[in-house]
Amino acid sequence: MTTPPVAVITGAAQGIGREVARVLAARGYATVLTDLQEPAETGALTVLGDVSDPDSVASLASQVRSTFGRVDVLVNNAGVSLLRPAEETTAEQWRRVIDVNLTGPFLLCQEFGRDMLAAGSGSIVNIASIAGLQGVSDRAAYNASKHGLIGLTRTLAAEWGGRGVRVNAVCPGWVKTEMDVADQASGGYTDDDITGQVPMGRFAAPGDIASAVAFLADSGMSGFINGVALPVDGGWTADGSWTSLRLRKR
Ligand SMILES: NC(=O)c1ccc[n+]([C@@H]2O[C@H](COP(=O)([O-])OP(=O)(O)OC[C@H]3O[C@@H](n4cnc5c(N)ncnc54)[C@H](O)[C@@H]3O)[C@@H](O)[C@H]2O)c1
Repeated sequence: MTTPPVAVITGAAQGIGREVARVLAARGYATVLTDLQEPAETGALTVLGDVSDPDSVASLASQVRSTFGRVDVLVNNAGVSLLRPAEETTAEQWRRVIDVNLTGPFLLCQEFGRDMLAAGSGSIVNIASIAGLQGVSDRAAYNASKHGLIGLTRTLAAEWGGRGVRVNAVCPGWVKTEMDVADQASGGYTDDDITGQVPMGRFAAPGDIASAVAFLADSGMSGFINGVALPVDGGWTADGSWTSLRLRKR
């Protein structure tokens, strides 16, 4: 009997990560759910921990090794938002966002990348953002972390692709999750502000992001795709139209 492929998903308790875990489990992966908070769903293994803490990441990797003896897919999804004008962002706030959104994925890539390199195969999918491709005001730390995550993705793709490990990023547009609800409460923007920017006229759904992750995870589907930053944004980053022109096309 062959053992199922193993997928590790960070930030799996809610939002995009929860949906990614559900979709990968439905596709036959044994899922490892990790988060600061207890996930509502159960995967094959659940490990609580902080992605920005090297000891916590090492302990997660050793539990995956002892439980499954393999890892096939890593989805770096855990992230935090910060809406703050650049001139008011404290060094502590800056560091926390970079720690969770960029250092965390680096630590996880290192730990699980070593196992994938030893096995000669694996797929890493980093959840960046369209804020990793463009500037958006009042998000200096967040945008820098996501630009950095895309840089990390491209570098690891170059470094590890020749040894069977693909590394890609998914760049969601705005998604209706707990993160967006909290951001709207603190950030003074509305649903219409967002949908007005999107040629397809809606928010992304968590399932839109999870489908792209499942595609990039699966070497049978995306085996020669390595180092891309794939926008899943309904055309937001492609569209240089001014808003009234865009809205006339609806
Ligand atoms: N919602 C959006 O509009 C949107 C758009 C683009 C990109 N993203 C990115 O998608 C990812 C998921 O976002 P979401 O909207 O589902 O957010 P969310 O806040 O709803 O969920 C994030 C999850 O990550 C966990 N988490 C936070 N810090 C952690 C840490 N240090 N260690 C472990 N787990 C931690 C949280 O507990 C939570 O369960 C993030 O990286 C986010 O930046 C979101």
